[in-house]
Amino acid sequence: MSYPYQILSEEQYKEVYQFSIEKPEEFWASVAKHFTWKKKWEKVLEWNFKDPDVKWFKGAKLNITENCLDRWALTQPNTPAIIWESNDPEEHHRVLTYQELLFKVSQFANVLKNNGVKKGDRVCIYMPMVPELAIAVLACARVGAVHSVIFGGFSAQSIADRMRDARCEVVITADGAFRGNKEVPLKNVIDDALLQSPDVRRVIVLTRNRTPVSMIKGRDVWWEDEIRKVETMGNPFFPAEEMDAEDMLFILYTSGSTGKPKGVVHTCAGYMVFANYSFVNVFQYKPGDVYFCTADIGWITGHSYIVYGPLSAGATTLMFEGIPTWPDAGRFWDIVDKFRVNILYTAPTAIRSLMGFGDSYVADKDLSSLKVLGSVGEPINEEAWHWFHKNIGKEKCPIVDTWWQTETGGIMISNLAGITPAKPAHATLPLPGIQPVLVDENGNRIEGSDAASGILPADIISGNLCIQFPWPGIIRTTYGDHERCRQTYFSAYEDKYFTGDGCFRDTDGNYRITGRVDDVLNVSGHRIGTAEVENAINMHTDVVESAVVGYPHDIKGQGIYGFVVYSGSNSDLNLVRQDINQTVSRLIGPIAKLDKIQFVSGLPKTRSGKIMRRILRKIAEGELENFGDISTLLDPDVVKQIAEARV
Ligand code: WT7
Repeated sequence: MSYPYQILSEEQYKEVYQFSIEKPEEFWASVAKHFTWKKKWEKVLEWNFKDPDVKWFKGAKLNITENCLDRWALTQPNTPAIIWESNDPEEHHRVLTYQELLFKVSQFANVLKNNGVKKGDRVCIYMPMVPELAIAVLACARVGAVHSVIFGGFSAQSIADRMRDARCEVVITADGAFRGNKEVPLKNVIDDALLQSPDVRRVIVLTRNRTPVSMIKGRDVWWEDEIRKVETMGNPFFPAEEMDAEDMLFILYTSGSTGKPKGVVHTCAGYMVFANYSFVNVFQYKPGDVYFCTADIGWITGHSYIVYGPLSAGATTLMFEGIPTWPDAGRFWDIVDKFRVNILYTAPTAIRSLMGFGDSYVADKDLSSLKVLGSVGEPINEEAWHWFHKNIGKEKCPIVDTWWQTETGGIMISNLAGITPAKPAHATLPLPGIQPVLVDENGNRIEGSDAASGILPADIISGNLCIQFPWPGIIRTTYGDHERCRQTYFSAYEDKYFTGDGCFRDTDGNYRITGRVDDVLNVSGHRIGTAEVENAINMHTDVVESAVVGYPHDIKGQGIYGFVVYSGSNSDLNLVRQDINQTVSRLIGPIAKLDKIQFVSGLPKTRSGKIMRRILRKIAEGELENFGDISTLLDPDVVKQIAEARV
């Protein structure tokens, strides 16, 4: 087995890139023809960015699980598809071959069918990182149901909001989850969410830690009981539902600069082709390699690069239930050693945190199997890059710095491991098929250092990062609100997808993403909207108003700094801080907790009442003077007061 569309030299990269922008439809057709289709497409691409309306492989019929399971179960039935490592190093690991995974997905697809799940239904999944999570995801895809996976760190309130938005009627969860030395009561959280989600008629509960749970008659059933019913049926093979190329595959909620999180929608064919193509090329996966992505399936990284990308490529994907620092900070390196991992894909925040524990946790581990390292989620700083390169890669493994987003479905800008050159702290070059452009505030294209146009003059340029042509993994809509999708991504600049990121480009055409230019924070590689956090803080009793900004944080990349106007009488301000965080935790989840809270008498506002975040950002970063022009402020004195009392 090999991948005819895998790029194997820098020379070839250049040729293929050129071809991909001259003849995008031919290019993508040449990739897509290597997949399993129930019916071939009539047209490769139809699009406009006005509505937006993007259709890839129009008229084609397929099921993504036939590409992830059946074709490999036939040709390499005994190849490990999923290797699972428990949170507990003492618990035995599990291996599921392609044949076994197909069997289990078929079984669970039957369970879904028995529980009334049909094509097009939305199913909420809130589970620990166990193989059954991947099985649940794939079983949804097999029956044609739309999965909406919610990360285990979100609160009941967040789950309820998402379930209501997607009108989910079925939930798949577990009694609880192990996380380091803690246990998380998943079913209890779901039960709280269900108090506000009247549409949910069925909850399927996997046994993981067998913590006591309340099971409601007529609504809640055990995963294991449902499987037993299927076992008495005889042959459990579930024929894959025929899906249209543009039928919905999944919804994944992500935060923006305003309002509630939006449901990013990806569809079957384009997403599959793009996740697979990017996986094979960026990581240079070779048959037999063991590939380990440390993300959680609750985020897009897990969807594309634990489940769909690797499995559609017949790869061996390692799934880890635990956390990097338990039982100690050598956990990742033990796993690499134990399973002879060849490719490791992780996040800068994890690298920085492990770096802080010193080299002793790495020293006695055999990491000689490693060939490729990857980074995702935020810009990787040079210090972390070099530590990763030296201590983990032993200076022989290329590092791929992969830039992409929930909305892009897969990796957009990255070096190809060992094929195109790396440059510390740079995502480097676009994948063939991807056409990035930098624009200024007025939407004018900034030329220069521009590989696509062949112009490469001398200076590093900077602008807002847009993509000017569709790729198969592009977001199709935001669930239930297409106008919001248009507004957020396609209205800032005409005929371009706007990423929300600021970016440099050097004289070789290398991109260096500098971070969000909107009010979106990136905390430990997780996206959090400032407006969402402010709304949560403002719900707290005696909070008058608040403003939240990001500030540089050694490990998390960005920390959350809140300025809060508090009118209560409690003089124990540390207790008030904890109360506020408890409220944020209840409403959003522990991942949105504030790192710093400063109580202020007022916020810097313009005469029209707009908060000047620019100033608050400076203060949070420790810049206590040179605020620029503050004469337009309603009360310029407030700035000085806030700066003096910085925490
Ligand atoms: C935002 C997307 C893509 C999966 C994980 C996050 C930032 C992501 C990089 C990188 C610099 C990066 C961007 C982007 N980002 N990867 N390699 N270099 N910045 O997905 O939650 O959708 O967040 O993460 O700011 O817009 P997400």
